[in-house]
Amino acid sequence: MKFNIINKPIDKIKADLELIFVVDKNLKHKFIKDDKSFKFSNYKGDSPLLLIENARLYLPLAKLEFEEFRLAAAKAYNAIKGLNVKKLKLASYLGECTKMSFQSLVEGFVLGAYEFNKYKEKKEAYTLDEIIFSSEEFNGKEVDISKAQLGIKHGQIMANAANFTKDIVNEIPEIYTPVKMAEDAQILAKNLKNVTCKIYDEKFLKKENMNAFLAVNRASVHPPRLIHLVYKPKSPKKKIVFVGKGLTYDSGGLSLKPADYMLTMKADKGGAAAALGIIKGASELELPFEIHAVCGATENMIGGNAYKPDDVLISRSGVSIEVRNTDAEGRLVLADCLSWAQELKPDILIDMATLTGACVVGLGEYTIGLMGNNEELKSELKAKSAKSGEFASVLEFNRFLKELVKSQIADVSNTASSRYGGAITAGIFLDKFIKEEFKDKWIHQDIAGPAYTEKAWGYNQSGATGAGVRMNLYYLNALAKEL
Ligand code: BES
Ligand code: ZN
Ligand code: ZN
Repeated sequence: MKFNIINKPIDKIKADLELIFVVDKNLKHKFIKDDKSFKFSNYKGDSPLLLIENARLYLPLAKLEFEEFRLAAAKAYNAIKGLNVKKLKLASYLGECTKMSFQSLVEGFVLGAYEFNKYKEKKEAYTLDEIIFSSEEFNGKEVDISKAQLGIKHGQIMANAANFTKDIVNEIPEIYTPVKMAEDAQILAKNLKNVTCKIYDEKFLKKENMNAFLAVNRASVHPPRLIHLVYKPKSPKKKIVFVGKGLTYDSGGLSLKPADYMLTMKADKGGAAAALGIIKGASELELPFEIHAVCGATENMIGGNAYKPDDVLISRSGVSIEVRNTDAEGRLVLADCLSWAQELKPDILIDMATLTGACVVGLGEYTIGLMGNNEELKSELKAKSAKSGEFASVLEFNRFLKELVKSQIADVSNTASSRYGGAITAGIFLDKFIKEEFKDKWIHQDIAGPAYTEKAWGYNQSGATGAGVRMNLYYLNALAKEL
């Protein structure tokens, strides 16, 4: 899909269809007046309205606000995708910021048009390939074209980064093994500016004493990979390290998941996939930071050599872990990856993981859980990423919850002694692997809720949503603006 802004009034632009957002509730819209064939006063509700004879699609827009733009653009795409429309035109609609208004409209179109259809024999042949904005604003004013163009560019980058992540998460576990993820990371590095990639295998993990990570992998026929991508522009201002949980499949291990819960666990690689998407976005946006992605890729399977409940693992950092449930495997992989990542001396350390069902129960399917020790950093991330439209809620640690991950036999247990507060106790477990000097630089993001959805919502199709990608890119972009 191409996007363009043309310095002409909307009526002078040729297209197959014109999209009109009905902004004004009183319908005093410049482009509505001459549609005499239709009585707008009869038009209620918020479904799109197609007037074929005038080649117009009317779509209600509640507010001139960024998230409304995304939702409306995706809705428009869905309304016309079955029609033979190649070129779509629309006027400019501005909220509080010109660049961001264009950016969110473009994001809405690109996110809304995403499809994972490689396993369908019959693929729909959608025709829409160009969206043309007129520089004429819906209220008759003129738009700043260079700001609009920057918004269009950034919108494409943001949405393509998220869609890239969706492709990884949607791919089936038979194909998408840790080795495949490593190959994808290498291809990504080749295609991007200022990005390098290093892949480490099980020999390296042994040498590094990453025994918690290795234990999770043991019963899998697929070898594990530690994937390290670096985006390094000239004279970077900060070093930011993302660590991703890359469980290409989570069967639960010997503490096997019930059948209904195992389904969708191909999406347990969502954290790692998001970290890769962030590297893609960061490089394309040319962010002024050195950004790392450290991904722990493995399966969690069963077999005669599987790690067991009752085992005690000596992690890379030396902290011993009592395994009480092999389905709490993500925190084991992350413990060793976080330990390794701290040697990169980050200014900010962020881990992303589909870590707990408890987070989904607590926050619902749409919201990311944010945890950490630094109040300021958590609220800063939440505030600076708010315009992305992704939902995030801070979950607070406390001293009593900290008691719950104690073990009789080891330094820490991989499951809490209470069934309540599971998202937070998982975060507290990870905190055991954060050294004093990084305690205030670390944020844990539990993306278990929004990473994968079985029913479409907003501009997300059923399947992967690319959760965390735009949230973190918006955060980084806002940080860069402060320099
Ligand atoms: N990958 C799951 C968490 C998950 C659940 C992600 C639902 C997405 C949707 C994780 O490895 C897991 O199984 N966690 C357990 C932890 C428990 C055994 C302490 C859980 O949440 O039940
Ligand atoms: Zn699990
Ligand atoms: Zn898992």
